[in-house]
Amino acid sequence: MKEIDFNNQAWGQIAERQYVWFRQALLDGVHLLNPYIQDELGNLSGKSIIHLQCNVGADTIVLAKMGKHAIGVDLVPGNIFYAKKLSDDLGVTNIDFIEADIMKLAEKHHEKYDVVFVSEGAVGWLPDLKKWGTAIRHLLKDDGFLYVFDTHPFFLMFDTDKLANGIMDIQFPYFGKDPDVDCSLGYTYEMEKNTKAYFWMYKISDLINSLTSAGLHIEYFNEFRELFFNAGGMSGHDKEMLFNYDFNNDKFPSTFSLKATVYNK
Ligand SMILES: C[S@@+](CC[C@H](N)C(=O)[O-])C[C@H]1O[C@@H](n2cnc3c(N)ncnc32)[C@H](O)[C@@H]1O
Repeated sequence: MKEIDFNNQAWGQIAERQYVWFRQALLDGVHLLNPYIQDELGNLSGKSIIHLQCNVGADTIVLAKMGKHAIGVDLVPGNIFYAKKLSDDLGVTNIDFIEADIMKLAEKHHEKYDVVFVSEGAVGWLPDLKKWGTAIRHLLKDDGFLYVFDTHPFFLMFDTDKLANGIMDIQFPYFGKDPDVDCSLGYTYEMEKNTKAYFWMYKISDLINSLTSAGLHIEYFNEFRELFFNAGGMSGHDKEMLFNYDFNNDKFPSTFSLKATVYNK
C-alpha cells in the first residue's frame, strides 16, 4: 500500500467524529475561518470557489455562504459522504463535493474557478508540491487567485510536547525529505491499531517555487504567531480558533498565509 492509501484509511476512521464535531461548531457559531483568513480573503460575493482537502466540508459551507458557489475536494470517501450530509443538514444548496487525490486532480477535473482555497493542516499531507502548484494553476481562471493559510514550516520542526513547557527543541529537521509516519492524525481520537499516517515536511522555498514555477505570482506571504488549534499548553479563543503559547510574543511564527494570482495567462 502507498502512503496516500494509508492516509486515506487513517482520515476515513475519523470522518464521522469530525462530522459530529463540525456540525456542532457550525451550530454554535464558531468562526471556522479565523479573523486573519476572513480579513485577507475579503469579499467573495459572486465568486466560484474550490476548496482543496475540504475534510467534512465545514469550511466549504462557510465559503459557499460567502460566494456564488463552492466545491470541496477530498481524498477520503467518508469525508465526502459526511460533507454532503453536513451541507444537507444545514440546508446549503450552492455546494458540491468531489472525491479526488489532489496529486491527480489536474488530470481529472477541468472546471476553472475564481478562487482556490487551502487551509489549516492541508499542505503537509501532499508528497509533491510541484504537482500541487500545477493543479492549482489548472483550476484557476486567468483572473482568479489562490489563498492558503496553513502551519508555518518553522513551527512544524518543534516537539510540541516540549513547547508546552516552554522548551524549543527541534524534532523534525527543516530539510527532512522522508515523511514522518505516525499512528495518529494529531487529534485526541483513538485510532485503530496499525494506523499509519504520512506527513511531509515542507519548506518556504517549496511553497514559493512550486507556485511560481506553475505560472503564479505571489502577491503576499504573511506570518502569524497564532496556531489554528491548541497544540497543548496554549491559550486562545475557542470561538476565533487562534491559539498561542504565553511565552511566544515574538519568538516564532506558527502559521503563514499567502495569496497568488496568475501571471502566465
Ligand atoms: C487537516 S484536514 C484539512 C482540514 C481543513 N482545513 C478543513 O476544511 O477542515 C486534511 C485533509 O486533507 C485530506 N487529504 C489528505 N491527503 C489528500 C490528498 N492527497 N488529496 C486530497 N485530500 C487529501 C484529508 O482527507 C483531510 O480531510
